[in-house]
Amino acid sequence: MWRVKSLDAVLRTAEKKSLHRSLGPVQLTLLGIGGVIGTGIFVLTAEAAQKAGPGMMISFVIAGAVSAVAALCYAELASMVPVSGSAYTYSYAVLGELVAWLVGWALILEYAVAASAVAVGWSGYIVGLLAQVHIVIPPALAAGPYAGGVVNLLAVFISMAITILLVIGTRESANVNAVLVLIKLVALGAFIALAVPVIKSGNFHPFLPNGWGTVGVVGAAASIFFAYVGFDAVSTAAEETKNPQRNLPIGLIGSLAICTVIYLVVAAGAIGSFGAQPVYGPHGEALEPGSMALAAQCAGMTTQPLVCSREALAHVLRAIHHPLVGNLLGLAAGIALPTVILMMLFGQTRIFFVMSRDGLLPEVLSRVHPRFKTPHVVTWITGVCVAVAAAFLPVGQLADISNSGTLFAFAIVSIAVLVLRYTAPDRARPFRTPWIWFFAPLSAGGCIILFFFLPAPAMILFPVWSAIGLVFYFAYGYRNSHVGRGVTEVPELDPDAPALIEAE
Ligand code: ALA
Repeated sequence: MWRVKSLDAVLRTAEKKSLHRSLGPVQLTLLGIGGVIGTGIFVLTAEAAQKAGPGMMISFVIAGAVSAVAALCYAELASMVPVSGSAYTYSYAVLGELVAWLVGWALILEYAVAASAVAVGWSGYIVGLLAQVHIVIPPALAAGPYAGGVVNLLAVFISMAITILLVIGTRESANVNAVLVLIKLVALGAFIALAVPVIKSGNFHPFLPNGWGTVGVVGAAASIFFAYVGFDAVSTAAEETKNPQRNLPIGLIGSLAICTVIYLVVAAGAIGSFGAQPVYGPHGEALEPGSMALAAQCAGMTTQPLVCSREALAHVLRAIHHPLVGNLLGLAAGIALPTVILMMLFGQTRIFFVMSRDGLLPEVLSRVHPRFKTPHVVTWITGVCVAVAAAFLPVGQLADISNSGTLFAFAIVSIAVLVLRYTAPDRARPFRTPWIWFFAPLSAGGCIILFFFLPAPAMILFPVWSAIGLVFYFAYGYRNSHVGRGVTEVPELDPDAPALIEAE
């Protein structure tokens, strides 16, 4: 179970694909921004405020800093091993099969559960937008049981719609992605332009209403970490990248840097213009974001504060007397968020695909559709699971669960990059993480600390999920592993299969 995939075999496969490389640094950075800006800033700002109040600005900085050092480590591995499968493939080549399996298993949480979270976030915006034009989605169909509803119908709809697109092989075109990124940036730019000038310093007091703990700043950082997830999707496009050794690190770090700055200014604008204090229970107790208790408390309030909104940024704009721009921002979120779902689902199906072709998951999962050339079986299974989770769970809880898997995967990548410096010091490293002895432990440590500040359900779910994964590995993957059977060839999809993004 400690067997490793040969790094050279992985690299040979990457070289074979070199004819298909078309993405440059700007397209990659835009791809990263396309995958990163989503539900985190548009929706979870409210959840972060419920924990940290105005102190969520520090939460954004903490989560951004951990993501940045993780991206530095990611960039070194992505430049050395520019193939799809991201953290799973890197771990397989460096730390062995068992660790790779656990990482792949954790990435299911990262990608699939994140797709559910973004679907729920999208639904919140669309429900709000429809209400503005007097189309009311019945409460039973607008949210899951956590908010007094039954099923989140729109979240199911968008999950299945994206699944169908992926099955028939729709790839995002680089140009469409650029337009969608532009829409998101214009929406956030408009928010900043309208909110920042009306900032009142009084809205920043008290700055740390709940202190630093799990229901305070660091707890909010662990949740808002979700807003940065997705930059690693850039590495999913490794095989389509021109000069990946140079361009991947640019794409990873560039997109993250741009997003961090935008998030901070948006958060400051939301807090300063409208206020972002938490809502407390009848006895002054802290209430968990996404809980029924908070929903009940919000229902009794005439003016809805930020923390009660499911469409946080649009809500702020409406409240500061810009209803039209608020609605347009909602529309922008409605148009652009589905690409985040698409990227997450795409990443998930490709990781399943690689794991299945490695023999660690049943072969049926890597079956490719004869006409569309897509891994359709695994796409359907993933899509249905994503839709079910989105139907019944609140966005914040889904994001926390997703974070637990991501933080684990990032911690392992950070360790892997350090191990590889030691075990293969002479291998070519087109991008070298600076101060690796400082940044890699900082990244691993930061991820582990944030993990322990997640709410209890997400923290408990992760070991349970990993245990299920281990049972599966020893019952199936251990015996069927191709590497274990001496097969060194690295499997790939048909070169004509749809890739994540198509340059034009
Ligand atoms: N970072 C992505 C989002 O916030 C997953 O939606």
